[in-house]
Amino acid sequence: MKFSNSAALAFAATAIAAPSTPTLQEKPREVQAGCASAVTLDASTNVWKKYTLHANKFYRTEVEAAVAAISDSSLAAKAAKVANVGSFLWLDSIENIGKLEPALEDVPCDHILGLVIYDLPGRDCAAKASNGELAVGELSRYKTEYIDAIVKILKAHPKTAFALVIEPDSLPNLVTNSDLQTCKDSASGYRDGVAYALRNLNLPNVVMYIDAGHGGWLGWDANLKPGAQELAKAYKAAGSPKQVRGIATNVAGWNQWDLTPGEFSKASDAKYNKCQNEKLYLDNFGPALKSAGMPNHAIVDTGRNGVSGLRQEWGNWCNVNGAGFGVRPTSSTGHDLADAFVWVKPGGESDGTSDSSATRYDSFCGKSDAYQPSPEAGSWNQDYFEMLVKNAKPSF
Ligand code: BGC
Repeated sequence: MKFSNSAALAFAATAIAAPSTPTLQEKPREVQAGCASAVTLDASTNVWKKYTLHANKFYRTEVEAAVAAISDSSLAAKAAKVANVGSFLWLDSIENIGKLEPALEDVPCDHILGLVIYDLPGRDCAAKASNGELAVGELSRYKTEYIDAIVKILKAHPKTAFALVIEPDSLPNLVTNSDLQTCKDSASGYRDGVAYALRNLNLPNVVMYIDAGHGGWLGWDANLKPGAQELAKAYKAAGSPKQVRGIATNVAGWNQWDLTPGEFSKASDAKYNKCQNEKLYLDNFGPALKSAGMPNHAIVDTGRNGVSGLRQEWGNWCNVNGAGFGVRPTSSTGHDLADAFVWVKPGGESDGTSDSSATRYDSFCGKSDAYQPSPEAGSWNQDYFEMLVKNAKPSF
């Protein structure tokens, strides 16, 4: 997974600061699964006002193992609290669909299970770190073995609420990286695949957010309209599904919510980007989505954006060194279009390997502002996790 944007990357920059009203989620784990009757999510409303993002058992298990490996008792006590924070579960391969049923076993009626749909053919076309299992051309496998299999499970669990982030980076890459042969090759599969996912996952117990990159990506003046049109095209190709609420921004990202002036606003190209923080991105991209004809509410990933000023360039996306956990999931955002701050990227899981001899090595993961050594994308990095805990803002 990565945020690249060759065109826009040439420029670069953003901003941010911690939102004003952080809400800690430290409810004890409950063991009952789902509600007494079928769940109906009204995607014309903010479902996060009613549902709490569930602290899924996979991340909880990773965190608990990490805590056990920490000898400093005060750090361990802080780290233990991370296990109670809600975060999304990534279904990043056909095999990992196997995580879904175990993960929904302990979701109480007032919680919502967050899932990331992430397995398009030719995945991560502008980078290497998260290249996936399906090759360009394997769209029928994506449909039948991946999406259909997930749909079947979600249908079998109508009493549980689900929030889905749809295919991080895919459509944004088609907007800004269409000059790359890999993205050209992936384009039709991305468009068809996302539309298929939206159409088929449109179930009453599901609310969907299509990934829209971040302010330093589609927020450039030249990218706002084409970006909104690309997303709206997929939404309409899917038949304008009722359960689509809007977009997910800053997924696995580092941008601040409302830091003013923005983190990169002194850059020489800053005049070409009005979205110097994620709040400004919603202010600008939201109306563009509306004119393009799609719903424009958003969830924003604040999982790892506790510290600003770490990146040398806005487009640096891999294992940013010095990062800290950000604001805990909450629906108190103070912004009409922002439904919730959520943790999408499970902090501690790597963005990509720093081993330059690995097949999926991406040079962004070897940059001087990237934490090294780092393991393969998705694998646990204990040292990085401990750093996120130490640098968390608000602190644990
Ligand atoms: C990786 C996935 C992983 C996800 C969450 C992505 O960068 O490619 O395998 O599940 O991050 O850590």
